[in-house]
Amino acid sequence: MPFPIHRPRRLRRSEALRDMVRETRLSARSLVYPLFVCPGTGVKEEIRSMPGNYHWSVDRLTEECKSVFDAGVPAVMLFGIPESKDEEGTGAYDPQGIVQRAVRAIKKAAPGLIVICDVCLCEYTSHGHCGIVKEGNVMNDPTLELLAKTARTQAEAGADMVAPSDMMDGHVARIRRELDEHGLAETPILAYAAKYASAFYGPFREAADSAPKFGDRKSYQMDPANQREAMREIALDLEEGADIVMVKPALPYLDILALARREFDAPLAAYQVSGEFSLIEAAARAGWVDRERIILESLTAIRRAGADVILTYFAKEVARWLGR
Ligand code: PBG
Repeated sequence: MPFPIHRPRRLRRSEALRDMVRETRLSARSLVYPLFVCPGTGVKEEIRSMPGNYHWSVDRLTEECKSVFDAGVPAVMLFGIPESKDEEGTGAYDPQGIVQRAVRAIKKAAPGLIVICDVCLCEYTSHGHCGIVKEGNVMNDPTLELLAKTARTQAEAGADMVAPSDMMDGHVARIRRELDEHGLAETPILAYAAKYASAFYGPFREAADSAPKFGDRKSYQMDPANQREAMREIALDLEEGADIVMVKPALPYLDILALARREFDAPLAAYQVSGEFSLIEAAARAGWVDRERIILESLTAIRRAGADVILTYFAKEVARWLGR
């Protein structure tokens, strides 16, 4: 007869009691802030589909990075918008490319900030796919060579970590080998291991101008219906040498996160993607939800499911809230 002996409400009576028995805590120290770098100088242009996020030129971005670090966010993830695009995405692996230049500038201005670079071709290819295209097909193995060069030039520019998001098979192994052969054995790889072909990337594709010009990404990104396959993808990336594995998107895929947390010992990251951000932002602007509460609740849910690290467009703001 549990009642009246057991009364779970006893521990919910005051904020002090609730705080004492809280199982999950948010910390700014596990947040990563995604940022977009573009050509030019003096540029800070708001991204229409992601209000409060901007295209930054390198000079303005370094200022922003100092302020992000001062707010208590330990890490940023960089995405580049190149001057021009071509079939082979050469802007991605140019040692003087937009991201490589940004990394050098940021590491000089804010040396304590962890700079992570997204490794992918879709922002740099004229067709918008994440790899080399031949007769309408995205070619796996030839793409690996370009991804390896991309990661290497980013690490040579000073990136603290590289994060392949392309979903090509064997990408982690190829990048690991390239880094090791070039004296970069200490550079960790954060693998987008279970990345789904998701409609939640919609706002990002406008931000990065990276929507595929034909077809979709379903031949390389995962089918949203699959759970067991995610465990297989994560296992493969870990075997290939990934240091951190990521699940993406986050909130609609909490089951994947929770399962991965149970099955693997490696550090686990989750990406609260652009669509998750913009849905919250739009509803908050309409006055339909309490913005701060819904942001903190969504991040707490992602932590509770098992994420050690969270990439979120709310990182800077949340770090300020948590620090006050
Ligand atoms: C590049 C990449 C994408 C995102 C991160 N890296 C877009 C895509 O795969 O289409 C999405 C991030 C977001 O939506 O916030 N491949």
